[in-house]
Amino acid sequence: MFLKRFAILVASTAMLSAPSLAEDQTPIVSGEDEFMWNCAECHGFGGRGDGPLAEVLIKKPTDLTQIAKNNVGVFPADTIFAMIAGRENVVGHQSFQMPRFWQRFQQTEGERGFDKPEVRIKAIVDYLGTIQAP
Ligand code: HEC
Repeated sequence: MFLKRFAILVASTAMLSAPSLAEDQTPIVSGEDEFMWNCAECHGFGGRGDGPLAEVLIKKPTDLTQIAKNNVGVFPADTIFAMIAGRENVVGHQSFQMPRFWQRFQQTEGERGFDKPEVRIKAIVDYLGTIQAP
């Protein structure tokens, strides 16, 4: 268990410190807009897990405003980044219904108006950090 957790930590840390990830890079599209276009259909426009697709999914999409609350008040940005990228499996996701956005965003990488996956996912993670319930 510890080892697995540790491996995940190392993996996500390594990924986050990849040279292509510029901390201060301003994304072309805001994290909020990325969220509305890519996530809201399942997770809901307010991130509460009540998007229009939620009822046809086998698993209920997570209420993303409760992430910090469920993690002793700390928003685990690195883990969330890895989950969205599809690099960290979410516990109990054998029938994984959450798209792997790293691969999805790679398909448009380099096209005009589209950032690299790491920039887009980081923008989304930052946005999620702002919608956490107190
Ligand atoms: C097709 C529906 C769908 C879309 C689109 C989607 N998700 Fe999810 N997401 C889910 C479901 C369902 C789960 C619950 C886990 C599971 O069993 O797959 C989940 C789980 C998650 C989790 C894990 C939360 C936790 O703590 O376990 C995060 C974070 C997340 N989604 C963020 C996002 C973000 C950000 C986007 C957009 C970039 C997104 N999701 C797009 C369906 C979706």
